[in-house]
Amino acid sequence: MYGWVQKMISKTKMARYSLPPKFTLVFFLAIICITDGKYLTLDYYSKTCPKVSDIVHSEMESAMSSDPRVAPQLLRMHFHDCFVQGCDGSVLLDDTATFKGEKTAGPNMKSIHGFGVVDKIKSRLESECPGVVSCADLLALAAKDAVILVGGPYWDVPLGRKDSRSASFEKANTDIPLPNDGLMTLIAKFLAKELTPTDMVALSGSHTIGVARCTSFRDRIYGDYQYTSKDGVELAKLKEICPVKGNDDNITNLDYTTPTLFDNAYYGNLMRGQGLLNSDQELYSSILGFQTVGLVKKYAEDSLLFFKHFSDAMVRMGNVTNPHGGEVRKNCRIMN
Ligand code: HEM
Ligand SMILES: *[C@@H]1O[C@H](CO)[C@@H](O)[C@H](O)[C@H]1NC(C)=O
Ligand SMILES: *[C@@H]1O[C@H](CO)[C@@H](O)[C@H](O)[C@H]1NC(C)=O
Repeated sequence: MYGWVQKMISKTKMARYSLPPKFTLVFFLAIICITDGKYLTLDYYSKTCPKVSDIVHSEMESAMSSDPRVAPQLLRMHFHDCFVQGCDGSVLLDDTATFKGEKTAGPNMKSIHGFGVVDKIKSRLESECPGVVSCADLLALAAKDAVILVGGPYWDVPLGRKDSRSASFEKANTDIPLPNDGLMTLIAKFLAKELTPTDMVALSGSHTIGVARCTSFRDRIYGDYQYTSKDGVELAKLKEICPVKGNDDNITNLDYTTPTLFDNAYYGNLMRGQGLLNSDQELYSSILGFQTVGLVKKYAEDSLLFFKHFSDAMVRMGNVTNPHGGEVRKNCRIMN
């Protein structure tokens, strides 16, 4: 971005002799307005909050040491933030008497956790550099740290997101993929965010950590699309956790082999027909999977390739912006 701005500066310098100075000034201001807040950069806080990454990392480390479920929770929160209006902290807004946020939407209700950790990180950031770091950037950084802390890859996080002055309960229900969506719906929901099927297969690898509730995998274990090769004992255990009726909120690990490690075992599970969610298994077993089956096999074989594609896809997912811009919230739960 800076390279581009410099080019514009040299261009306008040449133009200065032929254009009235006032025009040049207005032109400059316009460029600054257009670029500011629209494009993310790695050094966005280098002057205003140089320790931002260290602060988020150390807070994530201490949160994880008291509750290891924080890593999957915060990784998922960033995803649910980015898929609704762009990565703008909209998922963090609390409902009030006059405002309906995203927290009670189907995919989030009883399912998104870790808001207390976000509050804690935010209050550290506010005491170090008040009013500077957006909640949306906080989530992008925390997701990166979550992945590192469970053995996954590192990537540099572009920053400069703004926090929304709105949320969308409706879009949270329509835009976030659901566990019983078919492959074509899943692909369409990612394409709507300009994410490719490759991005989708790589990002689904997030299900190498964390848990799902009975209500999310019941249709999978009782439907006609059953576990095909999982041995009877395992399937019986899942049915005990998740009976045909009731116990909706009982949980089980998404990756039963290495549930707390960020690795490529998830893809091996899919190849054995042991994906926990219908949406997981679809990537490998759908008859329409010509864009995805090959990737599942590749990632199962080559964990470095998975890490590389995952990191790239996280940067692209984090790049989905809210065109309306916004503010830097003082408290992630309420608009300023
Ligand atoms: C491909 C479409 C996806 C679908 C249909 C999907 C669906 C789900 C569902 C239903 C759960 C369990 C929630 C519950 O039962 O409470 C879950 C958990 C999770 N998802 Fe996804 N997801 C998808 C993609 C992603 C992506 C792109 C990410 C991150 C980049 C992600 C990260 C996670 C994590 C980390 C968990 C575990 C959360 C926890 O342990 O608290 N998922 N997902
Ligand atoms: C499932 O939930 C029920 C009630 O909420 C509880 O009694 C039971 O022990 C749980 N089962 C498992 C395996 O988690
Ligand atoms: C991020 O988005 C901007 C603007 O939409 C685009 O120019 C840039 O190439 C994107 N970067 C990545 C890594 O996708």
